[in-house]
Amino acid sequence: MKKRSATAVASPNIAFIKYWGNHIPELNIPSNGSISMNLKGLKTETTVEFDNQLEDDVLIFGNKPQEGEALQRVTRLLDRVREFSGNSCCAVVHSRNNFPAGTGIASSASAFAALSLAACCAAGLNLSESELSRLARLGSGSACRSIPEGFVEWQAGTDDLSSYAKSIAPADYWGLVDCIVILSKSHKSIGSKEGHSFAESSPFQAVRIQQAPERLKICRKAIITRDFDQFASIVELDSNMMHAVIMTSNPSTIYWHPTTITVINEVINMRRTGIPVCYTIDAGPNVHVICLKESKSQVCSNLNDLPGVIDIISSYPGGPAQCTERS
Ligand code: PMV
Repeated sequence: MKKRSATAVASPNIAFIKYWGNHIPELNIPSNGSISMNLKGLKTETTVEFDNQLEDDVLIFGNKPQEGEALQRVTRLLDRVREFSGNSCCAVVHSRNNFPAGTGIASSASAFAALSLAACCAAGLNLSESELSRLARLGSGSACRSIPEGFVEWQAGTDDLSSYAKSIAPADYWGLVDCIVILSKSHKSIGSKEGHSFAESSPFQAVRIQQAPERLKICRKAIITRDFDQFASIVELDSNMMHAVIMTSNPSTIYWHPTTITVINEVINMRRTGIPVCYTIDAGPNVHVICLKESKSQVCSNLNDLPGVIDIISSYPGGPAQCTERS
């Protein structure tokens, strides 16, 4: 039988209203909805080749063959594609990121979005955007937000059918920039998969979930009306609430480093001087500093001067996941 292959690209995303904790862990049905922006220029490119001569799936990341948990997660997603398509062949998956490894930029979102799309294209499955988003969600929750374009909302839903992401505004709708301040390149102590499972143990998670619809509404409106002040206050509140849950879970985790606080204070100082800027922090020490493109050079130059800052990678709102080749 002829080998069938396809290549897809997807960008990581930064959450403005964050996903933390699952309602149905096996399906990554989140406890709350979330809103994010795709990160232009940063991408994972993945090629999936189904080959009936293979006995097992093979995963190559960069140039290195992968085994264990990484390979199992890929196989689980491919199993789903095999089930839908009736094609039982194993596959070779080649995946590479154009952003440096270990920068704390969550790569599981772009990885599972690109894998889902490449696998479906290679298997000849023509899924709708919401079906693709649901499939990517099974690999990593936040990956469902890397399928649609620009500014994206993941509606939590209550089951596999109702939990997927859709675009709320195209990439060129608002000239935001994410200046990702790299403070550490080491791997995080507790991965997000484990972190989600600890969330319920925090006394603050219930209130975080209960108030999420209101934060989502404020954030959605701030994006649609391009209201930076409103946007900044809800984004920082949401990030602080997630970290309050993380710090008060059992076991407790503190992702922040001393320089994380230095960057937060610099953001607050810049805002006091009239620069529209805010921060949000994922499950790691690095800080995503969000500003308008007009202020980018000033913001980056102020941040660059801070002791402990290793690098700053900046990114504009990005497009959807795309299939770039099929044979
Ligand atoms: O999709 P996961 O399991 O990597 O979880 C993502 C968790 C955060 O990045 C901290 C928040 C988010 O909504 O992206």
